[in-house]
Amino acid sequence: MSASGLELRSVSEGDWPLMRRLDATNFGQLVDPAAMAAWRTMIPNGAALVVTDGPDVVGQSFYLDLQLTVPGGVVVPVAGISWVSVAPTHRRRGLLRMMFTELHDRIAAAQYPIAALTASEGGIYGRFGYGPATVSLEWAVDRRWARFRADAPDPGGVRIVTPGEHLDEFAAHYDRWRANTPGGLVRPKALWDDLLADRDDDRAGGSALFALLHADGYVLYRTHGSGPRHIRVVELTAVTPAAHIALWRALCGMDLMERIEIATHPDDPLPYLLTDARLVRTTAATDDLWLRLMDVPAALQARTYGADLTVVLEVGDGFRDDGGRFALQIRDGRAVCTPTQAAPDVCLDLDALGALYLGGHRATALAAAHRLRTDDAALVSRMDRAFGSEVPAELGFAF
Ligand SMILES: CC(C)(COP(=O)(O)OP(=O)(O)OC[C@H]1O[C@@H](n2cnc3c(N)ncnc32)[C@H](O)[C@@H]1OP(=O)(O)O)[C@@H](O)C(=O)NCCC(=O)NCCS
Repeated sequence: MSASGLELRSVSEGDWPLMRRLDATNFGQLVDPAAMAAWRTMIPNGAALVVTDGPDVVGQSFYLDLQLTVPGGVVVPVAGISWVSVAPTHRRRGLLRMMFTELHDRIAAAQYPIAALTASEGGIYGRFGYGPATVSLEWAVDRRWARFRADAPDPGGVRIVTPGEHLDEFAAHYDRWRANTPGGLVRPKALWDDLLADRDDDRAGGSALFALLHADGYVLYRTHGSGPRHIRVVELTAVTPAAHIALWRALCGMDLMERIEIATHPDDPLPYLLTDARLVRTTAATDDLWLRLMDVPAALQARTYGADLTVVLEVGDGFRDDGGRFALQIRDGRAVCTPTQAAPDVCLDLDALGALYLGGHRATALAAAHRLRTDDAALVSRMDRAFGSEVPAELGFAF
């Protein structure tokens, strides 16, 4: 117990009901006990913290043991931080910083090369060395006028199915997709069961889940509204371009639905398939997965690269001591990264390195914003080519 009366400690079983209430107070909805049980299966021992004030839990956070696909298809163990909450009665007194200091000590001790999170607000986590690594676009597709180009294939093969009866197929397609997609996450059975439980609380005012199934993909969606209804896609997973086209043709065939809303990545080919690409309107562009490289050499050596590169990086870490100076040599797609005393070619902070890591952001843009600093413009172009990812990065699922 500190002089302030606050105590930071590992979670004990009796804390969970209080944590559930604090989470609901901040996020506006009580998490279903079954959903909580599903997520708890992914929390390693010693990975959950609370701050208490007398009998009350006033701060909480934990990390999940996640498996993240990085460019090239290697799967890296990642500590996925979630349930970050501080009571409205205890804000801006350093509780988040206190929890994060301890939580990242534990993440480092457990030797995770990368920590990850999804953020409620964009201004919180950069100071802790997290950079936004994937970009998510919100699209509203005006289905009424959407027509496929005459030269767009029509592969067919889509079936209307009952979601709860096809978990195994969805999981198999998802697993093929995530194994190849930077940002993809292994999804355990407990989370599939949770998704397909399709509880009222998860429907955001929409219908029960509908599903379309293809040999290489699926769509889970809900309908919303009355009068003109619209579709909100919960998840569209296509392992092949043919599955992507077939599923979109089926969605666009829903004559009585006014529009289709979906979250996707910036390289989604749908606009190229339509006679009028403007019918795919981007209504928002936001960050999705945030990464903090805990072990810079291990993380940089895990992924593959698009071009050769030789560079000395000076990486700043304003939160912990995980930065430093590193010689990065990339040959034939593989990197060797070692600490060095050599003069740096490029200076950047850990959050900028996190933004580059999955190829979701370009060195050129970061350099123009002075977030990546060098005198060598040609080197920045080489970094673009090296760090770019052939497969666009996309987050597997929110956590
Ligand atoms: C976000 C939240 C966890 C911050 O907790 P807190 O205990 O008030 O934060 P701290 O006092 O430890 O602040 C740590 C640092 O983050 C900054 N910060 C905190 N909340 C911030 C916010 N919402 N936006 C921008 N900066 C923020 C503080 O200014 C402080 O900066 P500094 O240490 O560099 O000076 C808390 O406001 C909260 O629970 N919000 C509602 C739930 C939520 O959004 N959780 C995050 C889910 S991803």
